[in-house]
Amino acid sequence: MLKAVILIGSHQKGTRFRPLSLQVPKPLFPVAGRPVIQHHIEACAAVPGLREVLLLGGYPAEELAPFAAEMAQRYDVGVRYLHEFAALGTAGGLYQFRDQIRAGGPDAFFVLNGDVCGDFRLDELLSFHRARGERALMTVMATEATREQALNFGCIAEDANTHAVLHYVEKPETFVSTLINTGIYICGSDVFQQIGEVFDRKQQELYSCDYVEGDSPCSESISLEEDILAPLAGTGRLFCYQTARWWSQIKTANAALYSNRHYLKLYRQKGLPLAEDGKPCKIIGDVWIDPTATIHPTAVLGPNVSVGRNAEVGAGVRVREAIILGAARVRDHSLVLHAVLGWDCVVGAWSRIEGTPCDPDPNKPFAKMDNVPLFSGNGKLNPSITILGGKVTVSAEKVVLNCIIMPDKELARSYKNEILL
Ligand code: GDD
Repeated sequence: MLKAVILIGSHQKGTRFRPLSLQVPKPLFPVAGRPVIQHHIEACAAVPGLREVLLLGGYPAEELAPFAAEMAQRYDVGVRYLHEFAALGTAGGLYQFRDQIRAGGPDAFFVLNGDVCGDFRLDELLSFHRARGERALMTVMATEATREQALNFGCIAEDANTHAVLHYVEKPETFVSTLINTGIYICGSDVFQQIGEVFDRKQQELYSCDYVEGDSPCSESISLEEDILAPLAGTGRLFCYQTARWWSQIKTANAALYSNRHYLKLYRQKGLPLAEDGKPCKIIGDVWIDPTATIHPTAVLGPNVSVGRNAEVGAGVRVREAIILGAARVRDHSLVLHAVLGWDCVVGAWSRIEGTPCDPDPNKPFAKMDNVPLFSGNGKLNPSITILGGKVTVSAEKVVLNCIIMPDKELARSYKNEILL
């Protein structure tokens, strides 16, 4: 029997996803019509023998528990939300809930970061891990990145013949390797012994140090990467499985659009239903439309568009490379391009909502999405997709170009390269 744990963080994490994460926990943000971590759950449910998925995070239970219940029904696997009392780090939460993870005696369990996306083939990771035999305590899924980008990830040096991890450095300051940690692992239950040793050591430190109020040098937080992977490297118990399939982080709304495009393509390859089946209007390329959305027959959508629940798209509207969230309304003859429209937004007739795509450099092999900061070094707003927060209203005949608009704003004029708070 197998299990899976998805690490979803809390409202304190995922801040680069604002304003979209102000209304919904980032792991539940819809990409290609499904909440981000539904894609993870779907990948887990596809592994034969996988019985339970545990979502681990610091969000209030009422924000995640209904989603967990819905997923359990839909995929016919157990799905539970376990609420961490504090941010315990990527391994601290695993340790806190070790009894729940070990319950039923799983042979192994997957751990997935909730803020990555990709063509997760967990069965391939499982076969690779099993083929390493009894000594394999953990296998990390890895992928290739560029030399510069690798510094933003966990970097792995492996034995090319055995795929044993020889050296692991989390976000190194200088070049280590272009083989990076994707945040997807498979572990045997013995990993709790390793985490337990770190936990005990940290507790010893906590009680032996001179505690200065407000400046405690010790913490209960345990990092899977720094406290477990790095020491396991070179012991012959940690392995690396390299995938060439599509993979990316989802740290920003830019990355959500990129991920939307790739998940739609994946659906098409898997033969899952996309919009052409209903054909409510002219569709170009990959488009997902929620069955409750209303689309005027003269609108043109695509490629790479997702339209959420109860959204309305008017006559003559053109939408490309965009996510239109639930109950948003795009009035007649407007254009939406490289943008995310928040829940309950209204875009007036003949308006233009447009952003700048921030895709990985197509000329660099293995390039990943860059998590570009909002402002450049000289204080200028970096080009970005346009994001309308929830309940934003744009009057008719306005242009909103490269802007990030906080929820509830009413735009009565055009804006360019601005953040509206
Ligand atoms: N439950 C829980 N509790 N989840 C957490 C916590 C915590 O205290 N801290 C982080 N997470 C979750 C985040 O929500 C995210 O899904 C994942 O764990 C990764 O956490 P980050 O701290 O944001 O790390 P990162 O994304 O910068 O780097 C990690 O992922 C990269 C791949 O995306 C590392 O594992 C890197 O080595 C890796 O390359």
